[in-house]
Amino acid sequence: MQRQIIPQTMGQQFGRRSWAEPWKIKMVEPIRMTSREERERAIAEAGYNTFLLRSDDVYIDLLTDSGTSAMSDRQWAGLMLGDEAYAGSRNFYRLEATIQDYYGYRFVVPTHQGRGAEHLISQALIQPGDVIPGNMYFTTTRLHQELAGGRFVDVIIDEAHDPQSEHPFKGNVDLGKLQALIDEAGAERVRYVSLAGTVNMAGGQPVSMDNVRTLRELCDRYGIPIYLDATRMAENAYFIQEREPGYADKPIAAILKEFCSYTDGAWMSAKKDSLVNIGGWLAVNDEEVFDAARNLVVVYEGLHTYGGMAGRDMEALAIGIEESVQDDHIRSRIGQVRYLGELLVDWGIPIVCPVGGHAIFLDAKRFYPHIRQNEFPAQMLAAQLYLDSGIRAMERGVVSAGRDPETGDHRYPALELVRLTIPRRVYTQAHMDVTAEAVKAVYDARMETRGLDMVYEPKYLRFFQARFQPLVA
Ligand code: F0G
Repeated sequence: MQRQIIPQTMGQQFGRRSWAEPWKIKMVEPIRMTSREERERAIAEAGYNTFLLRSDDVYIDLLTDSGTSAMSDRQWAGLMLGDEAYAGSRNFYRLEATIQDYYGYRFVVPTHQGRGAEHLISQALIQPGDVIPGNMYFTTTRLHQELAGGRFVDVIIDEAHDPQSEHPFKGNVDLGKLQALIDEAGAERVRYVSLAGTVNMAGGQPVSMDNVRTLRELCDRYGIPIYLDATRMAENAYFIQEREPGYADKPIAAILKEFCSYTDGAWMSAKKDSLVNIGGWLAVNDEEVFDAARNLVVVYEGLHTYGGMAGRDMEALAIGIEESVQDDHIRSRIGQVRYLGELLVDWGIPIVCPVGGHAIFLDAKRFYPHIRQNEFPAQMLAAQLYLDSGIRAMERGVVSAGRDPETGDHRYPALELVRLTIPRRVYTQAHMDVTAEAVKAVYDARMETRGLDMVYEPKYLRFFQARFQPLVA
């Protein structure tokens, strides 16, 4: 049975008619289903951590949408135009102009991926003792802020921590919380606001234009800059177009640019929105910040006209940026995520609502109410999904949250989630059906499942490399 979920904007325009992807498939990569025995061996060898599986042992890979999207024929053709000069590659100038054009910032520093840019901006701006408020933490972002001596403080609205709240902009900053932090810490200690579009750890939840506009006014009163994690801002623009009064007829590209205009700069993991397998950048309006970042990039990434990317990578990225803001592209991308979400909701499976931009997030607390959070219910749920059908997902709960650097205790986030992340332009509707059925099978067997014990824990970003063993009765 094929079902179609019609995004509101299109439904309003045409009535209930199906839509389809604005592309056809020119090349395929075979994938292989494994046996249950093979998967039992593979997950045990991987220490029940889906990051440690070999991709050859995975059937449908929903670990991440990062670097896993399919490039277009134009992007592949662009690879042949790579100018691999060490300095001054023509592809850099094209990329720089494209970022200036679509995101609107003045100065661009290329990096190998998002965390390279996070490193540069954190080192350039943060002094020990600074406070960095933001709309929920992201793993690598917060770590770089902490390594630079800063303290991240979550100022997202309360609804973001509630997987059942239907708030249309669960990524919004709570301006009251921010004001209280400024009053308590002093404006001079609040180095910048770390704002993210479609907040990853909250379930891909968007920020409204009204929120960023009012945030700007508040920050202007204290001279506090706003830096944006633009990683999935094109997806955020789609939600503004769909949900915010006054934006239904504005193109995604215009919404994106307006949003960025309320911020002082951005860092980007181009491996998401921009439809490339590797790449990133930092872009700012302040020339002094640019100078500092451009100097640091040569220490950590590469010369300031490639920053860790090959010339061909920069060409593919410039083309990917143009494709990423096409309205029909983004509508079908988010439409596919929603399609999977609606199947799961119909079957009563607990997920984060409303469905966000890049992924479906299973609510492991409601899925496995009998497993305590320090027995890693989301980690176990991701493992069970792999065992059932070779589908690879990712834990986004207590393991990802890590330990408090001051107390050394686990941080217990309100959200204990498993992320089924949809790569762009890669899987079909049938893959979504197979995925939904697998989740249902794991849900039906939920009461037989127990938790995990962590048997190895690395110091940084533990979720990538930690190892676990099933608890026995
Ligand atoms: N910011 C956000 C919101 C991200 O989702 C990521 C990466 C980064 C920054 C860091 O960028 O990976 O290019 O160094 N997220 C990936 C994910 C890893 O699976 O969500 P990066």
